[in-house]
Amino acid sequence: MTMKQILWIIALILTFNACQNETKQEIKATSEKTQEEHVSISDFDHKAYKMKGKIIAQNTFKVFKSNIQRIALEKGLTDVVNFCHDNAEKIVDSLSKTQHVVIKRTSHKLRNDNNQPDADSKVVLDKYLQLQAEQKPLEPVVKKDTDGYVHFYAPIQLKKECLKCHGEPEKEIHEDIYKLIQSKYPHDKATGFKEGELRGIWDIKFLDMADK
Ligand code: HEC
Repeated sequence: MTMKQILWIIALILTFNACQNETKQEIKATSEKTQEEHVSISDFDHKAYKMKGKIIAQNTFKVFKSNIQRIALEKGLTDVVNFCHDNAEKIVDSLSKTQHVVIKRTSHKLRNDNNQPDADSKVVLDKYLQLQAEQKPLEPVVKKDTDGYVHFYAPIQLKKECLKCHGEPEKEIHEDIYKLIQSKYPHDKATGFKEGELRGIWDIKFLDMADK
């Protein structure tokens, strides 16, 4: 292992983020005000959904964090990408089941084709992109989908450490990592992001709280 690789791993361990999105800070920063788009959700429920959504997003992140930390330490960086490829969906699915929600991450520039936005999350994504273009703050959103289920949406903004896998190929993304990403995700569009840019959104759908 070269010194550069070792430093890279240390940086990764310090941030613990890898394929999972850091949610805590972004959500905290924007938690005071939530855009209420549907008056049909009462103030009380609106707050409850928002709180539950935030906790679920944070817990999902924690599970990834512990796995990634262990793999980066025991094996190395390429194994982190392999781990994300093989397990990201499985982990999210099993966490969804235990909490009776459906946890999704989606984006306008996808790495994994399976993370496609549906019609409802596309509306939220487009809105966030518009707000970003107008340099306005992006707030979490609680709203009902077309089937009547309540969703919690929150922006995922790019952190410096994410550039190692979502920044400029070969400049910010190490050549070996980029090759591996391309082999695992031949349609990858999730590169070339800049720090602070909208990377995607959390979409947490509540299955048992909808007053349908
Ligand atoms: C070690 C490389 C690595 C790092 C670092 C990394 N990611 Fe990723 N990211 C991936 C991989 C691989 C996937 C595809 C996971 C899958 O198969 O679902 C991914 C997928 C995603 C997705 C899901 C949407 C999509 O395009 O499929 C989001 C959102 C995301 N990353 C955000 C981030 C954020 C935010 C950070 C920094 C906090 C980050 N990533 C850091 C490798 C990385």
